[in-house]
Amino acid sequence: MRPQALIIDDEPDILDLLLMTLENMGVDCRTAETIKQAHAALSEQLFDICLTDMRLPDGDGIDLVKMMQKKYPQIPVAVITAHGSMELAVLALKAGAFDFVSKPLKLKVLRDLVSTALKLSRKNEAVIDSQESARTTLLGKTPAIQDVQNKIAKLARSQAPVYISGESGTGKELVARLIHKQGARADSAFVAVNCGAIPSELVESEFFGHKKGAFTGAISDKQGLFQAANGGTLFLDEIADLPLAMQVKLLRALQEKSVRPVGGNEEISINVRVLSATHSNLAEKVKQGQFREDLFYRVNVIELHVPPLRDRVEDISLLSDHILQKLAESNEIQKVSLNKSAINALQKYSFPGNVRELENILERALTWLEGDVISVADLMLPEENRTDTVDVENKKSGLIQENDLESHLEDQERQLITQALESTRWNKTAAAKKLGITFRALRYKLKKLNLE
Ligand SMILES: Nc1ncnc2c1ncn2[C@@H]1O[C@H](COP(=O)(O)OP(=O)(O)O)[C@@H](O)[C@H]1O
Ligand SMILES: [Mg+2]
Repeated sequence: MRPQALIIDDEPDILDLLLMTLENMGVDCRTAETIKQAHAALSEQLFDICLTDMRLPDGDGIDLVKMMQKKYPQIPVAVITAHGSMELAVLALKAGAFDFVSKPLKLKVLRDLVSTALKLSRKNEAVIDSQESARTTLLGKTPAIQDVQNKIAKLARSQAPVYISGESGTGKELVARLIHKQGARADSAFVAVNCGAIPSELVESEFFGHKKGAFTGAISDKQGLFQAANGGTLFLDEIADLPLAMQVKLLRALQEKSVRPVGGNEEISINVRVLSATHSNLAEKVKQGQFREDLFYRVNVIELHVPPLRDRVEDISLLSDHILQKLAESNEIQKVSLNKSAINALQKYSFPGNVRELENILERALTWLEGDVISVADLMLPEENRTDTVDVENKKSGLIQENDLESHLEDQERQLITQALESTRWNKTAAAKKLGITFRALRYKLKKLNLE
């Protein structure tokens, strides 16, 4: 069956353009001029997409979006906004609109929007299926994480920019990947970029690409990240680290839905959903003048907060189990487990590095482990957060600063390991034996101490 669209607009010119474009795409259209007529049409048949003007004779587009969210949440609604009225577009997205397109209508943008919406409606059942598997990927049974899972499912159906906040290691990138995977763009690329990792003089060409000869070193045309993500999702990680000059250019690209490669003179239209994240407080950066307010407003249409691990303590044992399972598979060893006191200690630990830190702690414990049960001591949790009192005396005396102690111990380790290696002519197996540790443990130490 041909896809069905409902178009709500009372301007004949726009209506003609929409009808022509959609019919060319093989979509059957029905039109309505008022919200009342739209109601009637919706009660008579099912639609795959709904396009509405913002100003209608008997109400505004936002009211229609809200009504649709309530009564027909499975139908993607896009709003058509007047030129330059970002505020309304943002309001519509917040109210649950799938996307927006601004006047004067650009045919390419309109077509991209429609085909994304149609993929979504065809994907409907598949989406529901994959929600289950996605749930098992973002692990957690606490209400805090289930709330995140539900929001992901909902946001996946929208094209709205989502700003994912939360401490380092909480799972922000994982969340972004799931929004992509459960949405209409799943078959296209997910491109993740760490904004803080690109030298500022290269950011523009990384994002938008460049033409051969645009600057010294530009020996050939290069595609930018926006083009690489075309049709898919671009994940701007650590967006707070973006240089101010680049923030202006990013804002422009998002508004125009097009980019201009460095040294090029034509605009390339792009169809990309932008998700962003940072571990710092973006609103605070805006106050301090380090992040542009207009860009903040544009990327932060919807905020999704990922809670720190210490606020979902009940998930720690579930997560640990999953991590140990993965580690066992990748190291091709029997799965090990945590004893009760180890789980207890983890539940009391503050996890400044969140899930990523939990992964590291377990991986390190496994490296050193002789048997198949991890106990508290194997976890080697940092002193200040340890719940037992063995080292309290050391701390009280205040003679040795924590970092000094660590580097002091590392120096000693380095010396002992080097001696052992020298006396065995760098035979690692023999050296490990001599030191009374496993080969795996030695390999870990060598890496950690940069002795390789
Ligand atoms: N709820 C979760 N279930 C399973 N794995 C998780 C969960 N949250 C985080 N992780 C894992 O923890 C690590 C850090 O997550 P990541 O998304 O990179 O964090 P962030 O981007 O917030 O720094 C990744 O390996 C990720 O797969
Ligand atoms: Mg990250």
